Amino acid sequence: MNGIKIITIVGARPQFVKAAAVSRAVAEFNRKETPITLNERIVHTGQHYDENMSKVFFDQLHIPRPDVNLKVGSGPHGRQTGAILEKLETVLTETKPDWVLIYGDTNSTLAGVLAAVKLHIPVAHVEAGLRSYNRRMPEEINRIVADRLSTLLLCPTPTAVSNLAEEGITEGVHNVGDVMYDSVLFNAELARKKSDIMQTLKLQPNSYYLATIHRAENTDDPDRLNSIAQAFEQIDMPIILPMHPRTRGKIGDANLFLPSQPSRTHPRHRHQSKNRLASPILIEPVTYLDMLTLEANARIILTDSGGVQKEAYWFEKPCVTLRDETEWVELVQAGCNRVVGADTQKIVEAVDEFEQAGCLLPANRPTDLYGDGHSAEKIIALLK
Ligand code: UD1
Ligand code: UDP
Repeated sequence: MNGIKIITIVGARPQFVKAAAVSRAVAEFNRKETPITLNERIVHTGQHYDENMSKVFFDQLHIPRPDVNLKVGSGPHGRQTGAILEKLETVLTETKPDWVLIYGDTNSTLAGVLAAVKLHIPVAHVEAGLRSYNRRMPEEINRIVADRLSTLLLCPTPTAVSNLAEEGITEGVHNVGDVMYDSVLFNAELARKKSDIMQTLKLQPNSYYLATIHRAENTDDPDRLNSIAQAFEQIDMPIILPMHPRTRGKIGDANLFLPSQPSRTHPRHRHQSKNRLASPILIEPVTYLDMLTLEANARIILTDSGGVQKEAYWFEKPCVTLRDETEWVELVQAGCNRVVGADTQKIVEAVDEFEQAGCLLPANRPTDLYGDGHSAEKIIALLK
């Protein structure tokens, strides 16, 4: 029997969600009687390592256990990327795969593509072709390099295909749809049955907003973080905020969002709490099934996450994007997403406008922006 050896490189939370869809399709493919077997091995770079940022996803989504964990941990970009690169080189030299599969735009993606191409191993990039056209974002640099060096460019949207064409990249480019959609379709019903997050947090459907913040451009800029915090304080609706570990540190440093446990000694708190209507409910990062449940039951979603913007659309929730631009431009064109940056007033206005529309998405929006939910199968057909 012929085997195709694939090394999948993952390291950060959204990559576990994406890789889960493809690994599941690999297992299904291997169950069928075909002359070819796909032999997938997973390498975890260790970029994310907290249990609730990593292990819970492998457990809940039944992702095969990583064969190797490089355990690089956190650090500045050069150190983190360099550490992954060095360790991956050894793994790839020993395993000699036919394909290296990389996802998205993290430092693990960048190190993955560099390690592989220098060893002349072809790379397939899942979520190729996205652009924010903002080179101050570390993710933009990572994507540009990954796309330039990959052999197979697996795009989630026609926009991604045309972004690549504008850069002269046309060979090996395929619109396969979005693997995150495969994941949502597979897990939404499971989430409904298994997640008890609504009961745990004592939430009623449609009675809260859901927010996430983790982008460096927001967390590492005290003015932007403060401006978002001010908007949240003016919004008269409970906001559930599962906090990325990066954000927890920054919020602590800036003493934001704390008025729900007021400190009498901190002058800023006294000032901030004057006109405060509500304060976000800060919780630990939640599991994927809990996150899908929180999304499915929210009135509006406010986020700077890439994945969460699309999940909002799939659950038919209006999305307020806390960034200055988005890669997922089709959501904005369809009237499902408003990109407002970190501007307090614009955030509050966008929420008000969605409320005035009954928190309903435009009835005439396209419903197939990200493919048909069979992206992983298309990826496998191409690798084969
Ligand atoms: C990374 C990706 C970003 C992606 C995000 C998904 C890069 C450049 N950025 O950002 O594109 O949207 O993952 O969540 O690759 N930390 C912990 N525990 C963990 C992980 C991180 O405490 O398990 C803290 C550390 O203080 C660390 C900080 O979070 O320094 C940032 O982590 P890092 O992986 O460098 O970047 P993210 O912000 O997670
Ligand atoms: N997610 C999760 N728990 C959380 C926050 C996010 O399971 O507390 C999931 C979310 O549903 C989506 C993915 O993580 O599938 C998005 O990851 P993140 O926002 O960290 O990264 P991005 O998509 O911005 O790169």
